[in-house]
Amino acid sequence: MSLTDITIVEVGLRDGLQNEETILSTTVKQALVTRLIDAGVMELEVTSFVHPRWIPQLADAAQFAESLPREEGVRYRALVPNRKGLERALSTPIDEYAVFLSASETHNQKNINKSIAETIPVLKETVELAIEKGKRVRGYVSTVFGCPYEGDVSLKQVVEICEKLLEMGVYEISLGDTIGVATPNQVREKLKTLTKEIPVTKVAGHFHDTRGTALVNAYVALEEGVRTLDTSFGGLGGCPYAPGAAGNMATEDLVYMLEGMGVKTGINLEKLCQVSRLAGRHLGKTLPSKVLQSEGMR
Ligand code: HMG
Ligand code: MG
Repeated sequence: MSLTDITIVEVGLRDGLQNEETILSTTVKQALVTRLIDAGVMELEVTSFVHPRWIPQLADAAQFAESLPREEGVRYRALVPNRKGLERALSTPIDEYAVFLSASETHNQKNINKSIAETIPVLKETVELAIEKGKRVRGYVSTVFGCPYEGDVSLKQVVEICEKLLEMGVYEISLGDTIGVATPNQVREKLKTLTKEIPVTKVAGHFHDTRGTALVNAYVALEEGVRTLDTSFGGLGGCPYAPGAAGNMATEDLVYMLEGMGVKTGINLEKLCQVSRLAGRHLGKTLPSKVLQSEGMR
């Protein structure tokens, strides 16, 4: 497998923090983002313009977005659930947006308070307006490999939702293993079927690591041609509306694996670990990434 042009999307400041009870100040978030950039991270999903009551940790979305350092080549992303969120985001320097919905009804309802059918027109309006304003929009599909409320999720449903998102104009779809249930054979089979309908160049992988399978699932996704992977520093992450969801694949674990395979990521592992340690100190816990746990052995 020739591994070139891999994009790592660092979602720690958004997905990583959204489930944390300890609210970090905007100043601490600024320190984290500055250090992530210093470590070589270029693509950062930093916040969500969702309702602050639903995700209190990200209530400072606009203030944080305004304070982001402008660095050559660095791109900032944020979630927008609807037109209201988009309008809030448009007045900030965020470079691109992501809309999101689930492939299972119950998770969609619990997460964004609408059925899937009700969500589609909301996202269509949001994506179209964002594009009109010159912004790129990514689409997330959650619960692709399983739902905490419904169990198995039909791949046909996933494909239909992906097609609708692409019709709206999203440039890429990130497939979420929201609760970290996928195994490598499922990732391979689902990707083989899905990419018959949707070009693999438009697909990203978003693997949560609840059961320790995120890295191997990411490896299989790479074998199947996926070149964009979402990760979170320290392995932070989870969705408050998906009980049992644990952290994302840790950025340092993916960087360690890729660099060991001779793939240049542009990310300095030691500096990245320092970010995770700093975040851990502010959150009052040791973050779960494997590379962090191996410290002292190197
Ligand atoms: P709702 O209550 O149904 O909203 O929430 P509504 O449209 O009925 O409006 C109610 C009130 O909320 C109104 O205010 C609106 O103006 C306001 P009022 O008139 O009562 O004063 N409102 C907003 N305020 C601020 N920002 C907004 C906004 N929209 C409406 N954007 C809503 C619907 C979508 C807002 C809510 O359900 C929500 O915020 N949900 C967010 C949940 C979330 O962030 N979940 C985690 C992210 S998804 C994820 O983690 C999965 C992912 O990582 C991939 C994977 O792992 O699978 C991406
Ligand atoms: Mg997630």
